[in-house]
Amino acid sequence: GRPVRVALLGCGTVGTEVVRLLHEQADDLTARVGAPVELVGVAVRRPNKHREVPAELLTTDAAGLIDSDVDVVVEVIGGIEPARTLLLAALRAGKSVVTANKALLAEHGGELFEAADASGADLYFEAAVAGAIPLLRPLRESLAGDRITRVMGIVNGTTNFILSAMDGTGASYAETLEEATQLGYAEADPTADVDGFDAAAKAAILASLAFHTRVTAADVHREGIASVTAADVAAARELGRAVKLLAICEREVDETGGEAVSVRVHPAMIPRSHPLAGVNGAFNAVFVEAEAAGQLMFYGQGAGGAPTASAVLGDLVAVARNRVVGGRGPRESAYADLSVRPMGQT
Ligand code: NDP
Ligand code: HSE
Repeated sequence: GRPVRVALLGCGTVGTEVVRLLHEQADDLTARVGAPVELVGVAVRRPNKHREVPAELLTTDAAGLIDSDVDVVVEVIGGIEPARTLLLAALRAGKSVVTANKALLAEHGGELFEAADASGADLYFEAAVAGAIPLLRPLRESLAGDRITRVMGIVNGTTNFILSAMDGTGASYAETLEEATQLGYAEADPTADVDGFDAAAKAAILASLAFHTRVTAADVHREGIASVTAADVAAARELGRAVKLLAICEREVDETGGEAVSVRVHPAMIPRSHPLAGVNGAFNAVFVEAEAAGQLMFYGQGAGGAPTASAVLGDLVAVARNRVVGGRGPRESAYADLSVRPMGQT
């Protein structure tokens, strides 16, 4: 069939791996999608730094690339602007979007979902939460017939890498953060990881999907790991516990007797016998509780170029298949039940 034409915005830790997988798996992708998946342009800031991409594909004009003859836009730039303006333009023009940008979704998800639904475009974002772990698709699709009551786990690889190192080797916080940055786990501004903003954005996305409502980053109670000392980690160890940064999303009854969702991110001391205590390095793990399904556990690499690119490629195959057969994915704004509000909101 006619090729599915893909624009890539950003080619850093994640984008580089997306380019590699698109190239290495071209034949398999064609077979799985039912048409060739063709990379037609890569927007970056500094084209001279990108020897890994054929020069004729590189551009600094991301808006122009979106405007050109492309079907799918993959965004791995990060941050709010220009990503927000670029993705709104793509969705309004009916182009499918795949993004790993949790900060953007947690702040402006509603606007993006509405733009997607208005034009009939797909908006997929599996890579935005918990890296390689298939988690959002199960929440959006596999569990859509059940009633989820709780989502809880470790959703930031950088802080888990730091806490694991403090617990294991007693390595210093600063040293370990530097290593996490070198390994491509940390955000461009690592205070987003350390102060819990990244986990809070992910928690907002998880709560929105699990409870079919709209939770933004501002609704999340947030506490990072900056105040966790080596002495705290050692004391927890003495008590048979481990310190982990947890994201917790729960259905609760609010002061009016109505249903609300409570979403929070904070360090917690958990018993070493708990499965989450054994989640180390940049791994993530998330427990989901649903009324009929009972307890589910999702575990895997939560950060890093290749694991995140795996999730991006999975989304790319899904939206490309939809293009080929004329279908589309879940319509988030159509399904949202906005009567279930974040705790404290009326
Ligand atoms: P990087 O900082 O490594 O890469 C960002 C890329 O975006 C660079 O190629 C940069 O260009 C490009 N860029 C920046 N500004 C612009 C602009 N205005 N126009 C065009 N291109 C631009 O980030 P990551 O790859 O680590 O992360 C990308 C996204 O994926 C973020 O949203 C992040 O939160 C998310 N994510 C990252 C994970 C990870 O483990 N790293 C895991 C899950 C999600 P240049 O190279 O020329 O400077
Ligand atoms: N900085 C993020 C983390 C990347 O450490 O988890 C994955 O979303």
